[in-house]
Amino acid sequence: MSSGSSQIWRRRNGTTWIRAGLVIFILVFIWLQLNFLSFTGSSQQYSELNDSNAAILSMVPAVLHKFLSPRPKNFTVTFANGTYANFFYASAPNISEMKRNIAQYNRQQIVHNENIFEPLQNDSIVIVVQIHDRITYLRHLIVSLAQAPGISQALLVFSHDYYDEEMNSLVQSIDFCKVIQIFYPYSIQTHPNEFPGEDPSDCPRDMKKDQALIKKCNNALYPDVYGHYREAKFTQTKHHWWWKANRVFNQLDVTRNHTGLVVLLEEDHYVAEDFIHMLRLMEKTYKESCKHCNVLSLGTYLKTYNYYADSKKVEISPWISSKHNMGMAFNRSTWMHIVECAAYFCKYDDYNWDWSLQHVSQNCLKQKLHAMVARAPRVFHIGECGVHHKKNNCKSTSMISKVQQVLKTAKRHLYPDYLVLTYSTILKKTKLRKGNGGWGDRRDHKLCIGMTIGG
Ligand SMILES: *[C@@H]1O[C@H](CO)[C@@H](O)[C@H](O)[C@H]1NC(C)=O
Ligand SMILES: *[C@@H]1O[C@H](CO)[C@@H](O)[C@H](O)[C@H]1NC(C)=O
Ligand SMILES: *[C@@H]1O[C@H](CO)[C@@H](O)[C@H](O)[C@H]1NC(C)=O
Ligand SMILES: *[C@@H]1O[C@H](CO)[C@@H](O)[C@H](O)[C@H]1NC(C)=O
Ligand SMILES: *[C@@H]1O[C@H](CO)[C@@H](O)[C@H](O)[C@H]1NC(C)=O
Ligand SMILES: *[C@@H]1O[C@H](CO)[C@@H](O)[C@H](O)[C@H]1NC(C)=O
Ligand SMILES: *[C@@H]1O[C@H](CO)[C@@H](O)[C@H](O)[C@H]1NC(C)=O
Repeated sequence: MSSGSSQIWRRRNGTTWIRAGLVIFILVFIWLQLNFLSFTGSSQQYSELNDSNAAILSMVPAVLHKFLSPRPKNFTVTFANGTYANFFYASAPNISEMKRNIAQYNRQQIVHNENIFEPLQNDSIVIVVQIHDRITYLRHLIVSLAQAPGISQALLVFSHDYYDEEMNSLVQSIDFCKVIQIFYPYSIQTHPNEFPGEDPSDCPRDMKKDQALIKKCNNALYPDVYGHYREAKFTQTKHHWWWKANRVFNQLDVTRNHTGLVVLLEEDHYVAEDFIHMLRLMEKTYKESCKHCNVLSLGTYLKTYNYYADSKKVEISPWISSKHNMGMAFNRSTWMHIVECAAYFCKYDDYNWDWSLQHVSQNCLKQKLHAMVARAPRVFHIGECGVHHKKNNCKSTSMISKVQQVLKTAKRHLYPDYLVLTYSTILKKTKLRKGNGGWGDRRDHKLCIGMTIGG
C-alpha cells in the first residue's frame, strides 16, 4: 500500500465525498489539464515516450545501475573504497525472528558509512523515507538521490513498515551518504492476528453498532464517524508517519543535536538532482523573507512542468494537506509545536496523516502551518501510472520514464541562484468538520498517543 500522497484517491466514506469530492474533482480536473498541457505543449513531445526498461536504464549513469538490478541471493558488493562484502539472504524469516531483528535494528541504530562521510552537523539535511514493500520504486528513488550534489553530507533515514531482506540489502548497499534504518515496530506484517493488525474478534467494517454490541466484538463501542469499524490496513500509514517523526526528532542518537531541515519522502517519490540546492536556497529565503513560513514543500500536484518560466519561483501559501504533502521539509522547532498537539493528530477521526496534520494546523497550532512551495517540482510521484493512461494499459514504468524526460529537458533551468516569491491566491480552505473516518477505534488513538510519550 502506498503511503501518504496517493491517499487522495482512496478516501472512502460517503458523505465527506460529497463536499470534499467536489473540491477534489475540481483540483484533479485542473491538475489533469495542466499535466496534459505540460506533457504535450512543451517543445519536446513525450507522447512517443520509449519507456522500455532498456530506455529507462539508458538514462541512468552506469555506476548507478547496481541499484536497479535485482541481485541473486548470494552476491558480492564492491564498495567505492575498493573493499568487498558478501551478502547472503536466506528464506524469509518467521514473525518471531522478524520481531527480534526489528528490535535489534532499533536498539543498535547503526549508521552505515559513518566513517566515510563527515559526521552529521546540526544544520545538515536529514532525509526520511517512509517505505513499505515496493522495491522497484525504491530503487529509482535511490538512483535519483545518488545524483544530487550535496547528498554526501546528508543523512538518509529509511523507515520501514515491512521487513524484507532484499530491501534491507538494497538499502545497506547505498554508498553515497550516511544511512540508518528504523523499523516501525507495530506493523501488520508482524501482528497479523492481533491489534494493530486484524484481530479475529474485531468487528467487521460494515456491522451495525447494535449488532456489534450483541456480538460483543472487540471494538463494538467505537465505530468511526460514518458508522464503520476499523480496517487495519488503512490505519498503518498514519501510525507509521507519526511514529517515524517522533523517532527521528525525539529518539535517535544521531539526530539528537540536529536543528536543520528534515525532508519527508516516500518510497515512490523521485527527486530532481538540484533538490538539496533548492532546499538550501528556500531555507535561506524563508528565514529572510517569510518569517511566518514554517514548512517547505518541494513537490506539488497542481503543476505544469514549466521549468523555463518557473524554476526560480516559489509560492507562499497556507499549508494545504492535499496540495503540499509531497516532499515536505521542516525543522525541530516546527515539530515541537506539532507534537504538542498530539491529541489533535491522534484522536481526529481521519486515517490520513496529511488531513490529520491539517486538523492540527487549523485547530491547535498558535501559528498555523504556512508553506513555501517550489512551483517547478523537485519531488515527483512515480508510484502511479501516467494520468492519461487507462488503468489496464498502464505500466508502472511510464511515470518513471516521463519524469526522466521532464528533468532532462529542464536540466539547464535547474540550480537557480536566487528565488522569486509569489503569493498564493487560493481562497481560505473551508474547515473540514468531520474527518474522513477510519480512525474511530480507541485502540488506534491510544497507540498513536503512546508513540509520542514512549518509543
Ligand atoms: C527504446 O530504447 C531502447 C534503448 O535506448 C532501444 O533499444 C529500443 O529500440 C527503443 N524502442 C523503441 C520502440 O524505440
Ligand atoms: C556465496 O558465494 C561465495 C563466492 O561467490 C562463496 O564463497 C560463499 O560460500 C557463498 N555463500 C553462501 C552462503 O552460499
Ligand atoms: C522461527 O524460526 C526460528 C529459527 O529458524 C525457530 O527457532 C523458531 O522456532 C521459529 N518460530 C516459529 C514460531 O515458527
Ligand atoms: C569500505 O566501505 C564500506 C561500506 O561503505 C564500509 O563498511 C567499510 O568499513 C569500508 N572499509 C574501509 C577499509 O574503509
Ligand atoms: C550548530 O553548531 C555550531 C557549532 O558546532 C554552533 O556554533 C551553532 O550555534 C549550532 N547551531 C544551532 C542552531 O544549534
Ligand atoms: C550532542 O551534543 C552534546 C553536547 O554538546 C555532545 O556531547 C554529543 O556528543 C552530541 N551528540 C551528537 C550525536 O552529535
Ligand atoms: C526552524 O524553522 C523556523 C521556522 O519554522 C525558523 O524560524 C528557525 O530559524 C529554524 N531554525 C533553525 C535552527 O534553522
